Amino acid sequence: MSKADPKKFHIKSFGCQMNVYDGERMSELLAGQGLSAATNSEDADMVVLNTCHIREKAVDKVYSDIGRLRRKDGSSPMIAVAGCVAQAEGKEISRRAPSVDIVVGPQAYHRLPELMETAKSGKKALDTDMPAVSKFDVLPSRGKQARPTAFLTIQEGCDKFCTYCVVPYTRGAEISRPWSDLVDEAKALVDGGAREITLLGQNVNAWTGEDDKGHHQGLDGLIRALDKIPDLKRIRYMTSHPNDMTEGLVAAHGDVEKLMPFLHLPVQAGSDRVLKAMNRSHSAQSYLDILEQMRKVRPDIALSGDFIVGFPGESDQDFEETLQIVRDAKYAMAFSFKYSPRPGTPAAMMEEQIAPEVMDERLQRLQSLLNEQQYAFNQQTVGRTTNILLERKGKLDSQLIGKTPWLQSVHIISPDLKIGDLVEIEITQAGPNSLTGEIKERIAA
Ligand code: 5AD
Ligand code: SF4
Repeated sequence: MSKADPKKFHIKSFGCQMNVYDGERMSELLAGQGLSAATNSEDADMVVLNTCHIREKAVDKVYSDIGRLRRKDGSSPMIAVAGCVAQAEGKEISRRAPSVDIVVGPQAYHRLPELMETAKSGKKALDTDMPAVSKFDVLPSRGKQARPTAFLTIQEGCDKFCTYCVVPYTRGAEISRPWSDLVDEAKALVDGGAREITLLGQNVNAWTGEDDKGHHQGLDGLIRALDKIPDLKRIRYMTSHPNDMTEGLVAAHGDVEKLMPFLHLPVQAGSDRVLKAMNRSHSAQSYLDILEQMRKVRPDIALSGDFIVGFPGESDQDFEETLQIVRDAKYAMAFSFKYSPRPGTPAAMMEEQIAPEVMDERLQRLQSLLNEQQYAFNQQTVGRTTNILLERKGKLDSQLIGKTPWLQSVHIISPDLKIGDLVEIEITQAGPNSLTGEIKERIAA
């Protein structure tokens, strides 16, 4: 295999769904250049590590992953480090790991083909610009989809500057992609076989734009436009910020049938003092008020959230308030993390960093409460008739796995159905992490 002219690529994406989306777009770009996809990095002569920088050890992990790409004979494939670690570390990466050929940030990956040319000539290639011309204008259009569920990034970057978070530095300022580009991309995804689209953005509900008649629109307007694509069956969006939750978006949950009853709305902490120090600019109560509005129009909505424990200065009392907001809000699922100081963020410089053992104990208590709630949520759906979109095969013969509207995984047995089918089922059993169902009827393929 020659490093000079790669033929087979492999992309490993870490972190959030936006990275998964970027990975797919890079994959389409490389396929368009005549490279074919390898199933693993051993079979590839070009490997892209699409990295995440949100929490600690991300950087160490990238270096150990790079080390692992070295072949037995001492050679390595062409290596590109992409994503947020690339953005944050820049040329430090190829200095520390000389086997890395390309370092490319999340706003510049459309330039991968040129960067590969530079790498082929034996030079190190670096591009961490945030160019004025959007990568979306240059990337190839969307084709056949491998899965019935697709991601569509509609908004990128963040201007919120939560004091713990690197995103505003690695992903840049908040931008909304134009309306017509998004409607076109959604149609192309559906033509390519997608039946469910998840609209993505660091602050997805901050999306704004002008529709084809020049009218100002928010995320709810975009959702209503996508609702009109006949073969699109389901619409989701994430991640939302409480401050951008508009009345229109809440209302859309009440009357757009394709909009799934699922809301990922991170609160991060339950203490107003901590929320202020995090620069979240919402309070525990204003968060609960949004949920109340949402549950008025969609009583069954599945709530999901993110939490950080052990933010600098978090007292026992503050942490109790996090547990309290969990009890009040009631989550169907959630992600919780120990606070991790990120270089260059204001919180990393704050006094009163919390001891690791205190964080461990708080995380354990929070997670056991969240797990209890998730199990309760799953159990309360037993006996219900609902639909699932079949996404993948299970481990057993004729077993398929699909998701409910509330994003729970359901296992069913059926030799007659296939991935991509939307079927009506009855939920018969619930575990902490997944459900079992029986088929009632096939609704659509
Ligand atoms: N430490 C721990 N968790 C973090 N998150 C973001 N930054 C940090 C950090 N420095 C979490 C937040 C965010 C999710 C994507 O990651 O909960 O919502
Ligand atoms: Fe990070 Fe806060 Fe922006 Fe979310 S809203 S990406 S947590 S700065």
